[in-house]
Amino acid sequence: MLNLGFLCSHGGSNMQAIVDNVLNKNLNAKLAAVISNNSNSFALERAKKANIPAFHISNKTHNSPDSKIIEIFKKYEANTLILAGYMKRVSPELINAFSGRVLNIHPALLPKFGGEGMFGQNVHKAVLASGDKISGATIHLVTPNYDDGRILNQMTVPVLDGDTSETLAERVLQIEHILYTDTLIKISEEKINIP
Ligand code: GRF
Repeated sequence: MLNLGFLCSHGGSNMQAIVDNVLNKNLNAKLAAVISNNSNSFALERAKKANIPAFHISNKTHNSPDSKIIEIFKKYEANTLILAGYMKRVSPELINAFSGRVLNIHPALLPKFGGEGMFGQNVHKAVLASGDKISGATIHLVTPNYDDGRILNQMTVPVLDGDTSETLAERVLQIEHILYTDTLIKISEEKINIP
């Protein structure tokens, strides 16, 4: 059974969507713990509200944050890590500790619009500048390089005339909330394979 460990840096709305789907039994999974590198991350508040163990771990709190992250997720028996708006590069040590079962969501259709610097509004600005008429979101396995691992699932949204990076980001975020759970359901039903 999936036992999810979350890594978040910001608002945690993707994490919340997954948590809601677990609590209302759309997704058959357990919730191990939530870790943020940002002490002000709203994801930590959301986790506490849902009675999920929540921790702030960063290079300010620990010399070797990834070792501590591994220790915590192992303690809570997480078997699959969910990066949801996590702004840190993860180490090979962390990926290996979970046998490569580390997923990330990217707010565009990889392999385009990925890599170093492609986060937040930068991604949507690049999509708009490209003239592409379709954007979307991608779930992929995590490697030590940004946005580089095997693509597991994607969903698309239209790019509309008059879109700004903000309006496009909002449209993409709505499907992100569907896509992550959809992917985890398919993993739990072995329709999508991960290590
Ligand atoms: C999402 O757009 C995600 O794709 C990106 O950061 C945002 C996080 O949003 N990596 P939230 O913290 O889940 O609300």
